[in-house]
Amino acid sequence: MTQITLPRPDDWHLHLRDGAMLAGIAPETTRHFARAIIMPNLVPPVVTGAQAAAYRDRILAALPEGADFEPLMTLYLTEETDPADVAAAAASGLVKAVKLYPAGATTNSASGVRDFDKVRGVLEKMAEIGLPLCVHGEVTDPAVDIFDREAVFIDRVLDPVRRATPGLRVVMEHITTKDGVDYARAQGDDLGATITTHHLIINRNHILVGGIKPHYYCLPVAKRETHRRALVEAATSGDARFFLGTDSAPHADPAKESACGCAGCFTATNTMQLLAHVFEAEGRLENLARFASENGPAFYRLPVNVGTITLEKTADPAQWPAKILTGAGPVTVFDPGFPVYWHVKG
Ligand code: DOR
Ligand code: ZN
Repeated sequence: MTQITLPRPDDWHLHLRDGAMLAGIAPETTRHFARAIIMPNLVPPVVTGAQAAAYRDRILAALPEGADFEPLMTLYLTEETDPADVAAAAASGLVKAVKLYPAGATTNSASGVRDFDKVRGVLEKMAEIGLPLCVHGEVTDPAVDIFDREAVFIDRVLDPVRRATPGLRVVMEHITTKDGVDYARAQGDDLGATITTHHLIINRNHILVGGIKPHYYCLPVAKRETHRRALVEAATSGDARFFLGTDSAPHADPAKESACGCAGCFTATNTMQLLAHVFEAEGRLENLARFASENGPAFYRLPVNVGTITLEKTADPAQWPAKILTGAGPVTVFDPGFPVYWHVKG
């Protein structure tokens, strides 16, 4: 197969940022994607329905002329979040999910949750109305090794919270481990899991062997090869629980190439080409539509997009810019480290 047509894909986990960075990187997503779940970890975070409405307006104003793109807004869960505000924002159609960051887990997560008893009322309201909780699944306990933080989170936090809140619909965001895959596979249809582009391609050696590679550093950090293999098997299997969430997370190069570099890989530009490569290498191109275009809408109870995207394999390697130049500085595009022969047509 050298050509494949899919319904237009969606990105179920995206960082669009704000201001000059938003304006600079928005076209990279709107070129291929019809919708995206927009992460709320701005400074200050997007906590209330009113803040989400204002952020949505800023996103729409920053989109390129003629873009056919719908931002799906989320609220950042804090210990002060008001269940009634969440319910109103969901009822109006503005907000499609609430995001849980354990306090301190990652970029701009200081306002996240420390004491889960304090968010019980919000979680119960969300279970009642069917609003998904998107979970950054890492414990922040300094005693837990960074490579174990996802597996420990499942046992210590995720499973207890789900048991305590029957009916709560949960997305395990950017899973990076076989533990995450195995847990998701054992659950029913009230649990989904997103997988990023970069975690399908790199393992921890890519970050650390032959010199430290800041552009491969993200959170959750890439794990060993056995885990990457489990992610590839899950993503390419067609299983409805697994869908694309790129976690494309731009930081200007000086913030990445630093003694204390920020976490995030920027994959909005080349995700579809890279996914075609990964799925073809597995002999599973026929399941790319499920992963990138169908399983996500099914979980979020939204229609599959009407338009299509066509990918074509040629003898010439695909080209993309090494960096996206934004008013907030240059952003390095994720480099898979191998040539890719899949192109997006049109
Ligand atoms: O690598 C990451 N970057 N992981 C996250 O959870 C946050 C994100 C960001 O906002 O930069
Ligand atoms: Zn993210």
